[in-house]
Amino acid sequence: MNLFEAIETRRSVRKYLKEAVPRAVMEKALQAALLAPNSSNLQPWEFYWVTSAEKKARLVTACLDQATAATAAELVVFVARTDTWRRNRKLILDVLHQRGNPAKQQLDYYQKIVPLFYTHGWLGVTGLLKRLVFPIVGWFRPVPRGPFSRTRLQGMLNKTVALACENFMLAITAQGYSTCPMEGFDEQRVKRILGLGREATITMVISVGKEDPAGIYGARLRLDPKLFVFEV
Ligand SMILES: Cc1cc2nc3c(=O)[nH]c(=O)nc-3n(C[C@H](O)[C@H](O)[C@H](O)COP(=O)(O)O)c2cc1C
Repeated sequence: MNLFEAIETRRSVRKYLKEAVPRAVMEKALQAALLAPNSSNLQPWEFYWVTSAEKKARLVTACLDQATAATAAELVVFVARTDTWRRNRKLILDVLHQRGNPAKQQLDYYQKIVPLFYTHGWLGVTGLLKRLVFPIVGWFRPVPRGPFSRTRLQGMLNKTVALACENFMLAITAQGYSTCPMEGFDEQRVKRILGLGREATITMVISVGKEDPAGIYGARLRLDPKLFVFEV
């Protein structure tokens, strides 16, 4: 299946057949997720493939008992983290040094620019300062308008993780299985199941399985492209 066939074939499946998904299929799709473009290459994601029967049962409940979760052969929780950037930055810098002669621009980017946007200071005070200073500078020249708060940072990281989700779903589709992304879940309960704290945001839970034809709710429905696509 080529990329366009995978994009056209992928549907959100709400009911699966009782058929296992081979481990190799899951592993290949998780690898594809890791290749998604991501903000500053800081890879702020974590993918929890829930294979423990006990955790899976609790996750189905946390996904509000949606049929797509209850009938899925596999469930993966896609998480965005606001706290792993320091570790990942160090690892990236190590690799850049191992590769030899990293450009000053690259080093400056990770050492100076990245912390500027990933830290908000005690009680968000630095973030508040940035929210005051950047718009003033912005009168005179283009400036980044955020993220200057934890919430905005979470939003930014969710963009990255959503791209990993799409890579994952297309990779599953290309291998003859189906998925359904879910945001209908109790985030607090999902986090509790995975032992995650406030630095984690659940971007999506994705169900995986062999499609039951009854699991597709009608023909694909998209509105007129003229409403959404503009050439300006
Ligand atoms: C972020 C996100 C969250 C979603 N959450 C749910 C969900 O909780 N339950 C569900 O059945 N479908 C969910 N969907 C699937 C959408 O309803 C589906 O993508 C949309 O209706 C278009 O259908 P298609 O995916 O078959 O093209 C979600 C999709 C996205 C992108």
